Amino acid sequence: MAPKTVAIIMDGNGRWAKKRGLPRTAGHKKGADTIRTVALAAQDMGIQKLILYAFSTENWKRPEDEVSYLCKLPGLFFNKFINELMEKNIRVTFAGELEKFPQTTQNVINKAVNMTKDNTGLELCLAINYGSRREMLLGMKKYADEVAQGKRENDLTEEEFSKYLFVPEDIDLMIRTSGEERLSNFMLWQLAYTEFYFTDVLWPDFNKKELIKAIEYYNGRDRRFGGI
Ligand code: FPP
Repeated sequence: MAPKTVAIIMDGNGRWAKKRGLPRTAGHKKGADTIRTVALAAQDMGIQKLILYAFSTENWKRPEDEVSYLCKLPGLFFNKFINELMEKNIRVTFAGELEKFPQTTQNVINKAVNMTKDNTGLELCLAINYGSRREMLLGMKKYADEVAQGKRENDLTEEEFSKYLFVPEDIDLMIRTSGEERLSNFMLWQLAYTEFYFTDVLWPDFNKKELIKAIEYYNGRDRRFGGI
């Protein structure tokens, strides 16, 4: 059985490019093509939501030319693939603070979200300008404001708090590519009971076969959620 919600830390684009003597941006370009491959595979396998860490709140610290390329990538990606995503009934969403991106980047993302909003297949959620601590902080502030304004009681439950986050669902499987085994401020709340799968494969080389391996690993796990 496929997990319902899968999240991926897409790591290793830079190393993939370096191995080939190419600029880091070439790794990101190939990495964007991998998003298409993996989204289509996830849909085939019955995964309902795929969350991809495409740009972290820390990524602004990268050299200006790399940041500027990463800001252009959503445009290049959707130009190439939006029609196919529509045909396949895939719904695009995002998690993160979009408003910090250049207006053109915001426009292409909002356009893809609007265009696909009635699709009923896989939800492809791009985590962009996303940081988990920031996500929780924003959620807490919003809740505190609502209580202060008398809009709601001071009666927060875990389930209710989830609704203040960009991503409300628990995640079943988290994959990180490229051999790194860190969370890097990704979905800290949502990963509380998640199975983790780490692979040495670099993100641009990740594909359907590798996704199947991760799902097989997941299916071999005995998830107990704290029970016995
Ligand atoms: C990590 O690899 C990757 C990123 C910081 C960017 C991920 C972005 C994409 C895969 C494309 C995004 C596309 C769209 C459409 C939103 P790294 O650069 O840290 O690699 P390294 O650790 O080998 O240097």
